[in-house]
Amino acid sequence: MTIEDLPVSGVLATIGATPIVELARLDPHSPFKTFAKLESHNPGGSIKDRSALEMLRDRILDGRLVPGRSVVVESSSGNLGIGLAQVCGYHGIRFICVVDPRTNRQNIAIMRAFGAEVEVVTDVDPATGEYLPVRKRRVRELVATMDHAYSPNQYANPLNPRAHRTTVREIIDALPRLDYLFCATSSCGTLRGCAEYIRAHHLPVTIVAVDALGSAIFGPPVGGRLIPGHGASVRPELYRDGLADIVIRIDDLGTVVGCRRLASHEAIIAGGSSGAVVAALDSMRDHIPPGATCALVFPDRGERYLDTIYDDDWVTTHFGDVTHLWRKPEMEAASC
Ligand SMILES: Cc1ncc(COP(=O)(O)O)c(C=O)c1O
Repeated sequence: MTIEDLPVSGVLATIGATPIVELARLDPHSPFKTFAKLESHNPGGSIKDRSALEMLRDRILDGRLVPGRSVVVESSSGNLGIGLAQVCGYHGIRFICVVDPRTNRQNIAIMRAFGAEVEVVTDVDPATGEYLPVRKRRVRELVATMDHAYSPNQYANPLNPRAHRTTVREIIDALPRLDYLFCATSSCGTLRGCAEYIRAHHLPVTIVAVDALGSAIFGPPVGGRLIPGHGASVRPELYRDGLADIVIRIDDLGTVVGCRRLASHEAIIAGGSSGAVVAALDSMRDHIPPGATCALVFPDRGERYLDTIYDDDWVTTHFGDVTHLWRKPEMEAASC
């Protein structure tokens, strides 16, 4: 019996098997087909539900994590924290999530609603100016000082990429062919899990990694970044050279425009990294051959970005008047 076969019950049994939809309206004249895997349909609202479950499942089922005794501790600014809060909440296991002041208040509220404890670090690391090293240090401290504490450590845990063998398999099974796969990156769990499966099965798929311009995953960061989710301030241990065939880094404006184009053209309100993936596809349009099939992984839903990406005042403050970048031609005509 493998871990994948171990039983999972209740709401946790609804993790995965997310829908895949064709995006025919983003570019009605596109000579290639584009599909989106809607990971927002996981019960905790994101792709990280898969990683959270995979990283805890065997420990819960074989008794290494015990309700009333064990404590799970992790650093996360959002989606993984919510996924872990849900898995721990379902099983009655104590969970402490270490976050920083940039963490969206709604994410903290969701974790608390699942019964998680949330600890906010307030200082940045003096060497890097980033919160992430401080959050990771605090997790190590908690694990070292608490009895029966365990940290999944999404940035280095091989069970994180392993969770995405099902993600990529679901995409391959749903489509008659697959030529390009676009994945947003942070811990590199999705990218590595999908890439290892594709390479192991010798599938002729071009893997496109989509990162934030201010991230350190694929090279030195360029500038800051406003939008959380994809990107990382330190290269994760899960990173390996050669996971992606193509790397595309998208800036914050590109991310916003991708999200707002998705909303106005496809009626999909998705999170920032999904917008970055759309922007990456747009940047490659002239290089994708006619007849090809592209799959885009959309990691989360847009409700967690209503105060930023979907708030016109926030967008204008940061980028000026850019609404023309996502209006549909018929909307332009109506506004004349
Ligand atoms: C919104 C969003 N997009 C993309 C990613 C990247 O996924 P991964 O950690 O598998 O690289 C994450 C990870 O937390 C995320 O929250």
